[in-house]
Order: sequence, then structure tokens, then C-alpha cells
Amino acid sequence: MKYCIVTYGCQMNVHESEKIAAILEKIGYNEFTEKRDEADIIVFNTCAIREGAEDRVFGNVGALKKLKKQRKDLIIVVCGCMTQKEETAKLFYQKFPFVDIIIGTFNLPQLEHYISAVKTGRQLDLKTEGDIDEVNPYKRTSGENAWVNIMYGCNNFCTYCIVPYVRGREKSRKKENILNEIRGIVAENKYKKITLLGQNVNSYGQDLEPKESFSNLLKEICQIEGDFKIWFMTSHPKDLTDDVIDVIASEDKIIKDIHLPAQSGNNRILGLMNRKYTREKYLDIINKIRTKIPNCRITSDFIVGFPTETEEEFEDTMSLVDTIKYDSIFAFMYSPRIGTVASKMEGQVDEKIKNERVNKLLALEKKIQKEEGKK
Ligand code: 5AD
Ligand code: SF4
Repeated sequence: MKYCIVTYGCQMNVHESEKIAAILEKIGYNEFTEKRDEADIIVFNTCAIREGAEDRVFGNVGALKKLKKQRKDLIIVVCGCMTQKEETAKLFYQKFPFVDIIIGTFNLPQLEHYISAVKTGRQLDLKTEGDIDEVNPYKRTSGENAWVNIMYGCNNFCTYCIVPYVRGREKSRKKENILNEIRGIVAENKYKKITLLGQNVNSYGQDLEPKESFSNLLKEICQIEGDFKIWFMTSHPKDLTDDVIDVIASEDKIIKDIHLPAQSGNNRILGLMNRKYTREKYLDIINKIRTKIPNCRITSDFIVGFPTETEEEFEDTMSLVDTIKYDSIFAFMYSPRIGTVASKMEGQVDEKIKNERVNKLLALEKKIQKEEGKK
């Protein structure tokens, strides 16, 4: 029996699809295929971060109507961040009667149950919370890199972002569970890089009893013997404390590469985004990193066209990028997400202007890379 998993979105989803693969292999789907028309089960692991990502999922799921007509025994599953939203899950249920299983992010550990229950009818189920799943294993699929989740969810509620609504509040894994998983990965001798994952890794352990810190976790991971490197994402500028920068600087095992999303270079917009730092504070952190970790790679994410952003405020983002000279950036046009604070703000920016701004920012980044390359 063959299975196909179609993954959208971030590394977190890529890793979660490794869990889906392990569950499917356990129950008899023993061969992965990229070809949807060959598969006995197709799982769409979806992303809700921007409208574009959602549109792609709607299109690709819709395209399976014909295939399902020909192959009644084919099972189609839609799961992940999109279907964690009740309205979207219901929309899938009504609009695509050929989709068999619609579940959210918190139902994933019970995927096996939904697959066996599908005999009795279509499955639509959404939990609004769930404990960390330490039971289901992963089938690692990312070559020399092994993903390790250290925490789930997010408490930050940046006003544009859907993540806290579809992933719930921050929950850290117990340190011993993380260390044991990494010891196991290192013992397999197949992985050169271990990437720690969390929406906000710097606040790792703040919800544990007793509290733990990210810098301490990093130190303990580095004490594990073996030939491997550690990387992590994503860091939030408001929580990237000196102790973390010091550990990155002092530990050979940690890759000198920090993804530190700034989102905007303008203080009024940062305030409206609820980012809890200023341009000046952000620049301070960058300076600290560059002083303590010379040659550290630094990358960032930016959103252009946040509600009410003026041309001058966008220019502040341009000048921040020009000042810092990142090794690489991701730039996104602001996409209103239903249920978030920013989606209800007045002064939504025209798509055409967003498009111009994103192109301008990416052109600047390209120019910087060329100049830095020459140096
Ligand atoms: N619109 C555009 N970009 C967004 N991001 C998150 N939410 C939105 C949104 N509503 C971007 C941020 C984040 C990255 C993963 O996605 O820049 O850092
Ligand atoms: Fe979204 Fe902000 Fe949390 Fe990142 S820190 S996941 S942008 S709410």
C-alpha cells in the first residue's frame, strides 16, 4: 500500500509530516510515493500563515475530485493549521465531500484512529488543546538533518499572526525527553545536523515546573558526545537574551547562524504588530551578536504593507535592511488572517502597493548580496 504526504508551510510541518509517515507505515502503508494517482492514502498537511498558502491547498485538494471518483477506496486526509480553524474545517467538509478525514493540529497523534474509523463514515474532529505527543515516533526524511521539536505553540500574539490560534499556548517538552531524543539521533550516526524547532525557542522552559532556560538546554545538548552540529529556529528579538548569545559564541557545536525576524524597521508599525521591541533595541541585539560572534550569519523575515503602513514607514524597513546587510531575508506581503487583531484594523493597504514594496525590498536585498559578495 502506498502513501503520499503533501506538506505546506514551515519546518514544523515538515517535521510533523515525518510523524504522519511513521504512523502510516505502522499501519501498513509501506511505500511513499509522490504520485497522487498511485497512492492509497493522500495526506495534506496544511499551512494557514498567508492566504496564498491556503489557496494552494484548496486548489490541490479540489483537483482530487476526479481521482476519488475513479478510486472509491482512496483515503484523503486534510490536517494541520488550516483545518485547526473551525470555519475552514467545516468549509472543507461541505465543499469537498470526497475528503474522508478532516482534523486539526491537536488531533494528529490519533491519526491511526481516524483512519480505522473512516469505514463508518467521514471524520471531522477538532480538539482545541492537546498534550505533547511523546509516543508516536518519526520517520526522518530530511537527509543529514534531524528535526527536534523543543516546544509547541506561541504566546506572543503578534497582531498579524494566526499561529497562536492554530497551535495554542506555548508548551515546552521536558528537557530529559529532548536530551534522550538527541542521544538516540546521535547514536544512529546518520545525522550531522540537529535543528531544534519552536515558534519562539528563546522562551523554552518558561512554562515548565521548575523553569528551564534555552541557554541551559543548549549547553546540555552540547555536552552530548558525538560528531554533530546544532541549529535552531525561530528566535524572537524580545527574548534573545545575552546568555543565549554567549552560549552560541562559546559552543563549537552550535552553528553560527541566527534567524531573527525583525518584521519591520519602523517603531510605530512594530508597536501595532505587538512585537515588543523597537528598531533601536533590535539594532542593539544585532550589534551584540556581531561583536560576540564575528562572522555569524544573520537572516530575517519582513512583512510589508501592514495596515496603515505609510511609504515613509516602509522606507524605515528598507533602511534597516540596508544598515544590517543580512545574509538573506524573507519578505512577505501582509495577508489578513481572519480572527487576528490586524485583520480588523482600518487602513488595510492596497495589494498593488504591497506588491511594489515587496519587490523593492527584495531588489535591495539582491543588491546588498551582490555588493557583499564582491567584498
Ligand atoms: N502576513 C504575511 N506574513 C506573515 N507572517 C506571519 N503572519 C503573516 C501574515 N499574516 C510571516 C512573518 C513570520 C513568517 C514565518 O511569516 O514574517 O516571521
Ligand atoms: Fe506568530 Fe509572533 Fe508567535 Fe512568531 S512570535 S509564531 S510571528 S505570534
